[in-house]
Amino acid sequence: MNNKTMGRSGFSSSFGVLAATLGSAVGLGNIWKFPSLTGANGGAGFLLIYLLATLMIGLPVMIAEITMGRAAKANPITTLQRLAPKKSLPWWLIGASGMLAAFLILSFYSEVVAWVFAYVFKAIGGSILSSDRQVTEAAFGALISDPLQSLLWQWGVLILIGGILLMGVTKGIEGITKKLMPVLFLLLLVLCAVSLTLPKVAEGIAFLFKPDFNKITAGVVLTAMGLAFFKLSLGMGTMMTYGSYFRDDQNIPATTMRVMLADLFVSMLAGIAIFPAVFSFGFEPSAGPSLVFITIPAVFSQIPGGHLLMIAFFALAAVAATGAMLSMMEVPVVILHERFGLSRTRATVLTIAMLIVLGSSCALTNNVLADFKLFGMNMFDLFDFASSNVLLPLGGISLALFVGWVWGRDNFQRALSNQGALRNATVTGVVFFLLRYVSPLLILVVMLKGLGLF
Ligand code: PFF
Repeated sequence: MNNKTMGRSGFSSSFGVLAATLGSAVGLGNIWKFPSLTGANGGAGFLLIYLLATLMIGLPVMIAEITMGRAAKANPITTLQRLAPKKSLPWWLIGASGMLAAFLILSFYSEVVAWVFAYVFKAIGGSILSSDRQVTEAAFGALISDPLQSLLWQWGVLILIGGILLMGVTKGIEGITKKLMPVLFLLLLVLCAVSLTLPKVAEGIAFLFKPDFNKITAGVVLTAMGLAFFKLSLGMGTMMTYGSYFRDDQNIPATTMRVMLADLFVSMLAGIAIFPAVFSFGFEPSAGPSLVFITIPAVFSQIPGGHLLMIAFFALAAVAATGAMLSMMEVPVVILHERFGLSRTRATVLTIAMLIVLGSSCALTNNVLADFKLFGMNMFDLFDFASSNVLLPLGGISLALFVGWVWGRDNFQRALSNQGALRNATVTGVVFFLLRYVSPLLILVVMLKGLGLF
């Protein structure tokens, strides 16, 4: 450890590492993206491709990011500068593109989180509890079409998350996620238990898991891979940043595996909590925001105790989103702090200010900027597409190539085995092979094919 890394804070316990890393992976992606994408794109067939993408690409890239971060103990840009040999390609650009991806994702993600927080309060007030879908649709429409409400909730969320980051890595990120993750599991289990007592459990589960291979196209494979990146918070330096806070004795492959399995478990539970209820009350499973904000309230209005359960559901979503947002915002904060010499407070305030400007374009997508389109997409969809389907996979390819061909087997092996303390040569060998040959090629083919470039 050199002078620059001494005194840098990090996660203080093994449980803290797990809570923070899982807190980053688990987010709105589990509640809003995973179940609806799986249901709409071929059920078990999609799940299989998602699992393959996770095993062949997601896990190796996650291990690579965390290992690099811990080895360099720095922000993503500095990490690449430290690990790359002098006079090589400008690998630090991977860190810079990660920062750009963080800003793009945060811009639209913070708006969905804004709706979630608004809905926690609406759920408590009971105003959105109606069995009439038109009423719940109108309530959601009223929120998103109101520019002032959309902006204020978004800014509130950004300031809240920024406030937690100001408490620091150990007290803020680790302290909060350690408390929130158990709450998340508890709420999810309660919701699942209720869902499994409903009449159309089988139909709901079938929607999620019934294989329909006809739906699998190149675009769907790209979506599954994009989801694997998004779910595990990869390709934008988030895991690299968290890796830099990992303890030196943390077993990285074991932690990564646990995070991936727990994240998958949460996604499945979310699907099991949502779809039986949707089918039992005669609703159509819809995708994206309308599932969460329109269908769910209508469904809960028909379940005994639905008012409390609905509060639990939106609280769960808010908890999940908090851990994910913390990890995303930490990327620009730590880059501005360490790379550009700003104090952590100034770096956080500047990040919030930049997100208020950029994120506003997403908050205004459903009202003032409704007709504004670039490349045929509104700003919200464009930011989502450009990050999940382009920047994250590109970041993934570059990271895999960097470890496989530049940083090299010996450095990787030493760092991943905790300087030889862990006997994991087979694991390291397999992961290295995947990073050197398999992951970059797979990502490239899927990306080009999915984008229709060949
Ligand atoms: N993994 C989060 C989710 O599934 O909601 C989203 C996310 C967090 C993406 C952090 C990227 C990231 F760096």
